[in-house]
Order: sequence, then C-alpha cells, then structure tokens
Amino acid sequence: MRVIWCCTSKIFGTIFRKMSYMNNQKINSFRNRVLNDDVLNVLKQLPDESLDMVYGDPDYNVGINYAGKNYTTKWDEYINGYIELAKESMRVLKPTGNLFMINYPKQNAYLRVKYLDDNTYDVQDYVWTYNTNVGHSPKRFTTAHRSILHCRKTKNNNFYKNQVAVPYKNPTDKRILNNLANGSKGRMPYSWFYFNLVKNVSKDKTFHACQIPLPLVEMLIRSCTKKNDDVFILFGGSGSEIVLCENLKRNFISCEIHTDYYQMILDRLGNNGKIKDEYRLDFIQQKNKKIPTQTRDLFTIGK
Ligand SMILES: C[S@@+](CC[C@H](N)C(=O)[O-])C[C@H]1O[C@@H](n2cnc3c(N)ncnc32)[C@H](O)[C@@H]1O
Repeated sequence: MRVIWCCTSKIFGTIFRKMSYMNNQKINSFRNRVLNDDVLNVLKQLPDESLDMVYGDPDYNVGINYAGKNYTTKWDEYINGYIELAKESMRVLKPTGNLFMINYPKQNAYLRVKYLDDNTYDVQDYVWTYNTNVGHSPKRFTTAHRSILHCRKTKNNNFYKNQVAVPYKNPTDKRILNNLANGSKGRMPYSWFYFNLVKNVSKDKTFHACQIPLPLVEMLIRSCTKKNDDVFILFGGSGSEIVLCENLKRNFISCEIHTDYYQMILDRLGNNGKIKDEYRLDFIQQKNKKIPTQTRDLFTIGK
C-alpha cells in the first residue's frame, strides 16, 4: 500500500512540476510584451492561475471614438462580452490574485450581479470621483464618478496596506501611536477616492481619447503587487499604465487593437515612456513648435 502511495505521489509531483514549468514558459513568451491583438484572443492563450493582477479599463459602450471607430453596441451584447472578459481574467489569476475593472456604474453593476457575485470569492465596488465641466443637465445631478470593481480570487489574496497607506488623521492618539510603533505606515485608504481627470494640458496627455489618471492606477498596482509580479493591463490605450508598470518594476502583458495607439505604446516603451510631440494633441504640438499666438488661435478655434 505504502509503495503504491509513494509511486502515485511521485507521478503526480512530476506531472505538477512539468505543468508549472510549461505554464512558466508560456507566460515568459508573453511577459513584458504588448500585442496588437484582441484582448480576449490573448487572454485565452494564457494558462490558468498564472498572473498576480489583472486590470481593465475597457471601452464603456457610450460612443467614445477610438482611432476613428465609434464604440457602441447593443446593451446585451456589450454585457455578455464584458462577462466573458471578466471570466477569462479570473481564470488566469493566481489564487492570490486580484482583478480591477473600471467602468461607469451601470456597466459594472450588471457585470457584478450577472457574473462576479456568484463566481468570485469577494467583490468590492469602489468609487473614483473627479471634477468635470461636461455632462451637466438641468434635470439631474452631474455624473462625476466611476466604479472600480475589485475581485479577490480567494480569501488569501495579496494585499499590501503599507504600500498604499495614507497618513493617520490623529497621529498623537494612543492607539494610533501603538499602530505606528508596530510598523503601520498609516490607515487603509477608504473605498472612495478623488483623482483629477487627465487634462488636455497635462504632461501625461496624448492624442488618446480617454486616459486614466496615473496616481489612481499606481495605487491599485501597489495595493496588491510587489516587484517582478505579473500584471495584465488588458487595454493598452495611451500606454501610460504600461510605462507605469515598467517604472514600478512590475512585469506587464497588454493588448491594443488599434495600430495607431499600439505604435505609440511601442514608441513610448522604447523611449523611457517619453511622449513624442507627434503623439500629443494638435494644439499642444502647435504650442511646442512656438507658432505665434495669433496663428495658434486659428488652430484652436473649433476644437
Ligand atoms: C478606455 S481605453 C483605455 C485607456 C487607458 N486606460 C489609458 O489610460 O490610456 C480602451 C482601449 O482599448 C482598446 N480596445 C478596444 N477594444 C479592444 C479589444 N477588443 N482588444 C484590445 N484593445 C481594445 C481601444 O482602442 C482603447 O485604446
């Protein structure tokens, strides 16, 4: 009996090691690469339980124009696609992994109720607020927030409070002094946060239509990964989040379906993240070329 048990566990041990080796080889072939491909296509090629974090800032199905293509489809079609994306994202996460999905509240509410609540260990819905001067209506309050869904694959998800802690409000309080003495670097951030939108004049702004502020993404990445961990930035966009991974020494995988954005990402990765003038908005390009103000005004009229 003991001999059979020993042989079986040896065989299973060998199979397990071989599978881990093959998974690692597979991930290696994607590691620190951006693919000019459909994200679902790439996700489906990745092995189960191989990544530390997946982060998605997808198209929101509200008609934003990416590289000349207007993104809107039937609601059910959109939600089914979003569910498939989340399902594949959860599959590729390690048991210690975390998924974050940014979207408008309604899109994320559907994803949560129709899929995530029943298929992940835990779902949290965070709120990112920002100031805005668009979208006002005389009949309702102005939308100025987005939802960030955070899914933990298991109860043993990695989460590093001290990498994202914010200063205590009452650092002289007895209990707080005790926490600080025990190594705490501050309190856990709340489930809502304020980050400015990326303005047209921001140093991070490119010609991409919809960029997420980097301090927000940095907080998410730091919350659940360490150096050399593997992060899938599902949608490459302007490339800012990918450059951020490089700067934070996290490995990345990413996809961008539009060639213009893809080329910009490659260019940025080859130039320490720098955004060349040709990838900036027109009016910034004109400003940088120091065209006299009067002529410059002609360029900006009607934009
Ligand atoms: C909301 S934007 C991401 C912007 C990014 N967070 C940033 O800050 O630069 C979504 C991006 O996904 C790309 N995209 C849309 N559908 C895609 C797909 N199926 N596969 C890969 N990329 C896609 C769009 O071209 C767009 O650049």
